[in-house]
Amino acid sequence: MSSNTPLQLLGGLSAAEFLRDVWQQKPLLIRGAFPHFQCPLDPDELAGLACEEGVEARLVEEHGAEGPWQVRHGPFDEATFARLPERDWTLLVQAVDHYVPEVAEVLEAFTFLPRWRLDDIMVSYAPPGGSVGPHVDQYDVFLLQGSGQRRWQLGGKVADDTPILDGVDLRILERFEVQAGDDWILEPGDMLYLPPSWAHHGISQSDDCLTLSVGFRAPSADEAITSFADYLGEQLPASKRYADAGMAPPEDPAELDDAAVARMRRLILDTLDDPAQMAQWFGRVMTQPKYVDQLVPTESPTEAEELVAALQEGEDLIRSPGSRFAWRALDDDRATLFADGDGLNCALPLARALATDAPLDKNLLALSGADALLARLLDIGSLGWADDFTEE
Ligand code: SIN
Ligand code: CO
Repeated sequence: MSSNTPLQLLGGLSAAEFLRDVWQQKPLLIRGAFPHFQCPLDPDELAGLACEEGVEARLVEEHGAEGPWQVRHGPFDEATFARLPERDWTLLVQAVDHYVPEVAEVLEAFTFLPRWRLDDIMVSYAPPGGSVGPHVDQYDVFLLQGSGQRRWQLGGKVADDTPILDGVDLRILERFEVQAGDDWILEPGDMLYLPPSWAHHGISQSDDCLTLSVGFRAPSADEAITSFADYLGEQLPASKRYADAGMAPPEDPAELDDAAVARMRRLILDTLDDPAQMAQWFGRVMTQPKYVDQLVPTESPTEAEELVAALQEGEDLIRSPGSRFAWRALDDDRATLFADGDGLNCALPLARALATDAPLDKNLLALSGADALLARLLDIGSLGWADDFTEE
């Protein structure tokens, strides 16, 4: 499909138009983005997930026993849910796409954006009145109404230093004024896109209000600089350091003069300005798994011959839920396959095949170096045998 094809998902805009005029710039309400949407899970299933060890879940009560906007963290148990009031609370479960394949399928609609920008799908359930209060997020999000109704009100773009409520565990805005016209009730299949820093408030209007938040990642300058400097730092020789050969005698030996600052600036900027290293680091950060513990490495290294034999016999490999892949060409033939924070040098067609949704079957073996690469990915837990996943 061309990037100029109008998409129902984007309210009739093409991917190119959406990215040019809306993405990161302004909200967009899309009625019927997913026509006849069948929510892939129900409130009980969401509550069940929130009771599981290792699943990141939060309960927000507007009028909690311990004060307003009380937040509790999972795992929860049935008794927790039995004691909740009839209204004004929200259950939020992170990364539901890692646990429910039908929720992961929703991500297939978002291929008009780089896959490595996607973070996860959070799902929330709220009885009538339930919300997490008016707030802003630092990330782009598509809020897809799964079932029931939610009222969304927007308050415009807010500054970084906008006051938030004191003494609560949520970053709720002290003041929230609905912008004229930005007040809608979303039905199943309707979707609201919000850029970062846009004030919003979503209040459940029904007993079955489930909302899917398709969220994106973007490292902050703070994280990026620290993490890139760490990555690069590990490879720099101790001899690369501040140097001042040929300098003029100081006017005052106690002064830190302009020339000294300029030398240090050059050392830092020249060392950091390394596009090849930056690409290697960037691919690794953007494919870092959300939950490192979810990847299960093999107990012993996989023998390439055994792997080939299993594939020839018709066994399939699958990408582990939550695994993240991306690729970048090194030249016409070779590429780096980024997999869950690792960078693996391999044949370009192989990197592309692994990083897309292509099936991982015996046909891959026609590509040079496939056996060793697949064995390595199995060993680090980025891939698994399809049979092992279905047995669980
Ligand atoms: C919710 O689903 O209740 C909140 C999602 C959000 O506002 O980011
Ligand atoms: Co939000």
